[in-house]
Amino acid sequence: APGAQEFIPPGADSLAELRAAAGGCHGCELHRDATQTVFGRGDERARVVFVGEQPGDMEDQKGLPFVGPAGHLLRRAVDEAGIDPTQLYITNAVKHFRFEMRGKRRLHKTPDQVHIVACRPWLVAEFAKLHPEVVVVLGATAAKALLGPSFRVTRSRGELLPWPESAQRPQDFAKVPVGPTGQRESVPPTQLVATIHPSAVLRADDRDAAYAGLVADLKVVAGALG
Ligand code: URA
Ligand code: SF4
Repeated sequence: APGAQEFIPPGADSLAELRAAAGGCHGCELHRDATQTVFGRGDERARVVFVGEQPGDMEDQKGLPFVGPAGHLLRRAVDEAGIDPTQLYITNAVKHFRFEMRGKRRLHKTPDQVHIVACRPWLVAEFAKLHPEVVVVLGATAAKALLGPSFRVTRSRGELLPWPESAQRPQDFAKVPVGPTGQRESVPPTQLVATIHPSAVLRADDRDAAYAGLVADLKVVAGALG
């Protein structure tokens, strides 16, 4: 698979333009069976950027990220943590739904490294338009896409961390030449908070405890925003 890079218009000026171009991405095989590309959603000026794994069944049908059960849970947790829901940009590491058929049902299948790598240019392009104060890394796939293979969500969750020097930073992402001026002006140092994926809360044996853990981690994000 060629990867997403060749589908990104070099002069893309806005997230809206990137979103439109992503609709035609054939950068990996996932576009074939999925209904549509699910691009990120939210304000370019968002103070917080959430990065999930990939769209689910509902997101695939609606064309919007986090509008299914995991999304409802996430919104409730965001609200409970005291994060302003109008200050968010929400996206995924992989922009097409990967699934396998079980009878008539489409069952979520975790994306492989090849899909993460193929789709990563869209994430890079999104970060070049965004300047969040905090990036919320939701689960292992987002961590792999943003921070590389050695980051462990279970070990580092709920901590406000500077973007690791060893990882590709959103600041570097922001140096990807895009837009009329070719460069972003200034980018504040970005922090991150990793936490479990809301889908993992839905699957947990003790759902209440898992949910409370997610809310506690998101309160760290709220605290960082002041
Ligand atoms: N899970 C994700 O990671 N992203 C979505 O958009 C929905 C569910
Ligand atoms: Fe392109 Fe990403 Fe979809 Fe693959 S998953 S086709 S790289 S948008």
